[in-house]
Amino acid sequence: MWSSISSIFLLINICILEMSGASDGNFLYFAFGSNLLKERLHLKNPSAVFVSVGRLKDYKLNFGLWEENVQTSWHGGVATIESCPGEEVWGVVWTLSNENLSTLDSQEGVSQGEYSPLEVSVETEQGTKLCRTYQMNNFHPSPPSPQYKQVVCLGAEQNGLPKEYLKNLEAVKTNNYSGPSVLDRIKAAMKQPEIIS
Ligand SMILES: *[C@@H]1O[C@H](CO)[C@@H](O)[C@H](O)[C@H]1NC(C)=O
Ligand SMILES: *[C@@H]1O[C@H](CO)[C@@H](O)[C@H](O)[C@H]1NC(C)=O
Repeated sequence: MWSSISSIFLLINICILEMSGASDGNFLYFAFGSNLLKERLHLKNPSAVFVSVGRLKDYKLNFGLWEENVQTSWHGGVATIESCPGEEVWGVVWTLSNENLSTLDSQEGVSQGEYSPLEVSVETEQGTKLCRTYQMNNFHPSPPSPQYKQVVCLGAEQNGLPKEYLKNLEAVKTNNYSGPSVLDRIKAAMKQPEIIS
């Protein structure tokens, strides 16, 4: 009796989870820039787990800065999305522990006004998922550094984004910066074996 009641509750719960896309204590995040790469996202947000590749319709990917000539740890423009009917942005849906909402927001410079969080409907093989994502404020176009572009492309490859989309990413012009960047820390992290808990 009790076990069947609890199975019904479990079933109801699963249905609710399917609709919202996230479970208790977790949230879904749609990444389209450097956070496509697991090791990059894990630097500050160790709870992130891959859910699916996804497509965001009616947006396009762009690279730029929130202030003209602002210095970033990437030494160039970084990725954002712009509303653009008919276009699409491919990315990765991650699930993160709510504990890492603040670390993700701080990585995206939300309190400094660099990016604003928004909720988007992402199409995946498991249906449409409501995800948190981030859009740059006061967008100024600026080419990415080769290092940033490399991380975006590595992430797209790592998670199997469509070949055609990857080709477009590989064709993005860079600013030819050479020197230290966040890439050095990511490379170091990629050499570390994953800690399985
Ligand atoms: C991020 O999530 C992980 C795993 O849940 C947790 O150990 C870590 O403390 C979180 N980081 C912060 C800053 O809350
Ligand atoms: C970067 O280098 C390439 C190849 O040398 C060159 O064609 C391009 O104009 C350079 N871009 C910038 C922004 O300097």
